[in-house]
Amino acid sequence: MSFYWQKYCSLSNMTISNNKWWQTGIIYQVYPRSFQDSNGDGIGDLKGVLQRLDHLQWLGIEAIWLSPIYPSPMADFGYDISDYTGIHPLFGSMEDFDALLQAAHERGIKILLDFVPNHTSDQHPWFLESRSSRTNPKRDWYIWKDACQDGSLPNNWLCVFGGNAWEWDENTQQYYYHAFLKEQPDLNWRNPEVETAMLNVMRYWLKKGVDGFRVDVLWYVIKDSQFRDNLPNPDYGDHMPDFEQLLQTYSTEQPEVHDIARKMRNVLEEYDDERVLIAEVYLPLQQLMAYYGTDQKEAHLPFNFQLLSLPWNAKQIATAIETYEAALPATGWPNWVLSNHDRPRIATRAGYQQAKIAAMLLLTLRGTPTIYYGDEIGMQDVLIPLDEIQDPQGLNMPGKDLSRDPSRTPMQWDDTQHAGFTTGKPWLRLSENYAHINVAAEKEDPHSILSLYRRLIHLRKNEPALAAGEYTTVHADDQMLAFTRSLEGAPLFLIVLNLTAQPCQFKLFNFSLKGIVEIATAPEIEGSMVSDEIHLNGNEGLLIRLA
Ligand code: NOJ
Repeated sequence: MSFYWQKYCSLSNMTISNNKWWQTGIIYQVYPRSFQDSNGDGIGDLKGVLQRLDHLQWLGIEAIWLSPIYPSPMADFGYDISDYTGIHPLFGSMEDFDALLQAAHERGIKILLDFVPNHTSDQHPWFLESRSSRTNPKRDWYIWKDACQDGSLPNNWLCVFGGNAWEWDENTQQYYYHAFLKEQPDLNWRNPEVETAMLNVMRYWLKKGVDGFRVDVLWYVIKDSQFRDNLPNPDYGDHMPDFEQLLQTYSTEQPEVHDIARKMRNVLEEYDDERVLIAEVYLPLQQLMAYYGTDQKEAHLPFNFQLLSLPWNAKQIATAIETYEAALPATGWPNWVLSNHDRPRIATRAGYQQAKIAAMLLLTLRGTPTIYYGDEIGMQDVLIPLDEIQDPQGLNMPGKDLSRDPSRTPMQWDDTQHAGFTTGKPWLRLSENYAHINVAAEKEDPHSILSLYRRLIHLRKNEPALAAGEYTTVHADDQMLAFTRSLEGAPLFLIVLNLTAQPCQFKLFNFSLKGIVEIATAPEIEGSMVSDEIHLNGNEGLLIRLA
């Protein structure tokens, strides 16, 4: 082994091993209802996830984030929890969960749970007690207010899923507050008993061995202590969800939320320093960064959702990447998300052909990628007929096209009936394209997006510059984005992406370019040399190992 090579190996191994698993690894979101059904009831379950661990291991992901699996009346498909420490019978039993956790761990795959601290179900025993009388010891666990003197609502706050955010309780003659459905009353985190109970929920799962949490709507948890009226949103347009008529000036994002985030982080650290806290926070960049904590003691990863809503334009994306990189706190670790269960899928937003380019972007940017189940095979949103819509957001605001069902359809495993997802009737219709867009077919096809995902994931794992190196934009215009990933002592990579269907050309002035195409959207050119000028076809992307 040459001296240079020895030096390179030791440097790069050191850099990768200095990072935590949640920095170099890839997180994969499973929406359990739609992943794999094992008992023919048409709804995915935990045994189904276990059956499909092979796929996830083959793909090379590091951790699974499971959307809620707890007992729930399913008014918001599990985000209305009636028992934080149980398993919904639809998904299986606690034994099934333990078996999944163990099997995943045996394969080196971590399990993250969805932690929903802002609200419970209205069927949670805490709320049933709370609403039973004004003097019940749990009355103050939720947010109860009298009507104003003129009989009107306590304030003007609106519900995310349509209508106002206050529900009248006939029995006790007060309103309770719900930021989401009336079946999802908000907990009162200003009550220390609530805080203790909820932090103990985290401890319950951490003790079982779960590897961390994705925290639902963290920025909602604490509200203005005076419950002042929210201010009007001057940028509101009719196409937007109704609640955006108001800025959420007082109903979310209060300074005290950071104390709560810190306490959640402290709970994780009672166990070991390998557990991860990911926060769902949809806020402008500067506010988002605050969720790392002033001394990095809040969320390890406040979700970076920019790619969910940016126009698919290379220049705008480059600007967003640079702005995000610049805004990160010194030791704050970046992360990227292309799709999730609340937003349209990337293959629908950017187009099926561009889904491969999006994959190359997600898996070569600096920071932890989160893959939404099915994105790896190019699943698209499925048009759900009006009379089949199940999502409350879609049902409550008809005409605004806000249903989230289209991006929650069953995973497409093979070309058998119902795509191998279930032997029963799927809870939500599947895409008709499953005959060719499915795991089994794509696994055999080197040109498939699935093969591309896998090649990218495996290269990223083995190349220190891709796992942990610096990001530098090299070029961005309306069509093309090019950047490097570099790490001292490790091979340097150039990524060139054509974000349009028209061909383009990449040439660097003052720089002689030489390298080998390591990964390409067209695999037949992998291994070929490039120099000086690169011609890209429409929808083409290249990852080049520079000489
Ligand atoms: C955010 C979740 O991602 C979404 O699916 C849910 O409806 C709301 N929080 C309420 O919990």
